[in-house]
Formats: sequence, structure tokens, C-alpha cells
Amino acid sequence: MFKRVPGTKDILVQEVYSWQEIEKISRSVFSIFNYCEIRPPVIEDASLFNRSLGEFTEIVQKQMFLIRNQEDLYALRPEGTASIVRAYVENNLDKTAGLKKFYYMGPMFRLERPQKGRLRQFHHIGIEVIGSSQAEVDVEVISLADKLLKSYQVSGYEIKINTLGCVKDKKELVNLLQKDLRGKLDSLCPECKVRFDHNILRILDCKNESCKKIIEELSIGDRHLCEDCKNHFKRVLTGLDALKIKYEVLPTLVRGLDYYTQTVFEVKHKDLGSQDAIGAGGRYDNLVKELGGEQTGAIGFAFGVERLMLVSKLQNQKIPKNLVFVITLGDEAKAQGLVLLNNLRNAGIPADTDYEGKSLKGAMRLANDLEAKYVLILGDNEIKKNVVMLKDMASGEQKEIGISNLISELRSNS
Ligand code: HAM
Repeated sequence: MFKRVPGTKDILVQEVYSWQEIEKISRSVFSIFNYCEIRPPVIEDASLFNRSLGEFTEIVQKQMFLIRNQEDLYALRPEGTASIVRAYVENNLDKTAGLKKFYYMGPMFRLERPQKGRLRQFHHIGIEVIGSSQAEVDVEVISLADKLLKSYQVSGYEIKINTLGCVKDKKELVNLLQKDLRGKLDSLCPECKVRFDHNILRILDCKNESCKKIIEELSIGDRHLCEDCKNHFKRVLTGLDALKIKYEVLPTLVRGLDYYTQTVFEVKHKDLGSQDAIGAGGRYDNLVKELGGEQTGAIGFAFGVERLMLVSKLQNQKIPKNLVFVITLGDEAKAQGLVLLNNLRNAGIPADTDYEGKSLKGAMRLANDLEAKYVLILGDNEIKKNVVMLKDMASGEQKEIGISNLISELRSNS
């Protein structure tokens, strides 16, 4: 027997229904905020991610699903932002008027060690806004994340927010950290010792207790931030306050991808255990230029759908059942039953039948198992009279009804 690849999931019928609900809600909220869907491919040149996420990030170093094809090296996308910026630049989307507000839904791939909430194929529902550096856009984006979470019926989440500052400020922060941490290298965890040389900012959000203590003692504050970046962040927080969106400023929040500048944020949920981020995002004002476009501001976020599902009240939605089950008795009825089934479906009424020639009792049992709302019984008697027997499965009530009235009767009861 074949088994699924570790870190992947079969999303089965009941669960798919809840996913569809989440997707439906998302599309409706996105449309209210004037976002349009974009669907880039799931496979890209691997170098796109090296360039955007950063050569020394964990994803690029350890987690890319790579596909070698003669001279080309492709990657299954580990995230959506790089692909969307690539699509924006390649399709000259900057040449049309207005802010570009995209949303996307789909699978992402990271070669991680699987555990609860951490998969190798997982799904994002995300957005990217390209074309503005204004702080009010950050407010819109965070308020959209908040609105979605409420619409997904998630409660108890926390929004953590920070600013990394512009590229110059980030460099300044790196310099400060190098200076402050050089003498404390021996007390850092083995991973942070490696990070010190190539990815020092990630030391700030290391979960190791001894690293955390060292970072706390540094009191990072906003020494590295320029006035413009401080003002930008102040405007973001003022906007969130005005919209009554709760957040906590977390100066150690840095995120694991190199493209971020200025505002970064994460949505956490305590019920998720160690993988506690439902979603995350931030500004990436230099990425469009980095990938060959004009200099322009951009910001976005993505939710991990599998993690969302673990905390959403929509996770066990009952599938509504409006099925009409047609049971035929005898050969003539079988032929007419097919026409009846077809007429019901053409009228938009969900309908099905038993093709296996079960007895009346067996077919009724099947209708019951399928949670049919109605059963229609068609036998020689009914054919003679041009009627069907209609049984309401909830009440057990049964009545004869003329074929010509059937569809309007079913519609009036649905
Ligand atoms: P990210 O933080 O890498 O950001 O991923 C966003 C969310 O995807 C995480 O908060 C988590 O819920 C989910 N996620 C990540 N990895 C896994 C995994 N292995 N298994 C299950 N869920 C996972 C990004 O990808 C950025 N592109 C977000 C963004 C959009 N920033 C700006 N625009």
C-alpha cells in the first residue's frame, strides 16, 4: 500500500467542506476590501527565492523542494510573495493605474521536520498590496487580517507588531547586535552561533531560554531607527488604535525572511502549541526593485490554513444535506427513473440514485446513510398513475405526488 509523503495531508470530504467555507468567507471579505485574485504557478526558478527571501534564510538553506531539469533548477514555491512580485514585474502590472491589491490561496512547500501545525505541503491564504509606502496601507492590511480572523470565527488570537526600519536602519541594528553580542557568543545556542555570522537578526526571536535572556538584557529599543521610520511606525499604531484593533509591540519580532523592512507583524494563538503563528506579514519596500521593477512600496501577509483550521469554530461545519434519493422498482421504472433524476438535476435539485438494483429496503437504508432529505419511489403502480411516492426522511411522512408538480413541490420545501 502506498502512503502519503510525510508532512502532507489528505483533506477529506468533511474537512474540505470547512475549507470551502473559509475560502468563501475570504473571497467575500477580499472583495469588500477591493482585492482581486492572482494565481501564479507553484513552480518557479529556485533563484527567485534565493534572491527574495535571502541566501542565508532557513527556507533557502534547508527547506526548498528543488527540481533539477537539465540546466534549470526549479523550486516548488515555499511562499507566495516572491512569485507575486515576480508576476507583477514580468506582466508590467505597474503600468496600470492605482494600487495593486492581490489575494491568493494555494499550496506552499517547505522541506521541514513535520510536527503538529508544521507540514511540508501546507496552504496559504494571503494578500499583497504593491504600489504604496504609506503607513495607512499597513493599517488597512492589518485591519484586513483582523477582519478575516473574526469572520473565520477565531477568537483568542494576538497581533504582535514591530518595525525593522529601512534598509539603513536594519544595517544599523545588525551592527549594534554584532557589537553587543560578540562578547556573549559562548552563551548563545549552537544555532544562534551560526546565525551570528549570517542571519544575526534571527537571534532576536530565538526560543532558547538562554538566548532570550541575553536578548532581554540588551534592551534593543529604537536606537537603530531613523526619524522617518519612527514616524511611519507611529502612524501605523495610531491608525490601529483608531480602528480599535488590539496589538502588542514586540521589539524582538524580526521574521525569518530578508525582504522585510519597516512594519512586521505576526498573529499568534496560544492553543497552537510551539507552532503558534496563524499568520504573518510585513512591508517589503525594496523587493519590487530587487526583482527588476521600479522602486515602490509593498506589504502583505499570509495565513496558514491548516493552523487556522485548528483554532476556527468553522472547523467542524456540518455539510448541509438537501439530497433527493430516487429509488426505482422494476425495469421500466429504472429507465424512467434516469429521466426523473436528470430532470431534478436540470432543475438544480441535488439528486442521486442507486444503480446497483438494491431491494427497496436496501435502497432505503442507503438513502438513510446518505442523509437524504427526501426519497422518491417509482414503481409500476406509480408509472401507471403518472405519480411518484415522496417520502420526507425527517418526519417519515409519505405522499403521492403528480410528476408534473414534483419540482415545484420540492422547491417550495427546500
Ligand atoms: P511565513 O511566516 O513564512 O510568511 O508563513 C505564513 C504562515 O504560514 C505562518 O504564520 C504559518 O501559519 C504558515 N506556515 C508556515 N510554514 C508552515 C508549515 N511548514 N506548515 C504549516 N503552516 C506553515 C510568509 O510566507 C510570507 N510570504 C508572508 C507575507 C506575505 N509577508 C508579506 N506578504
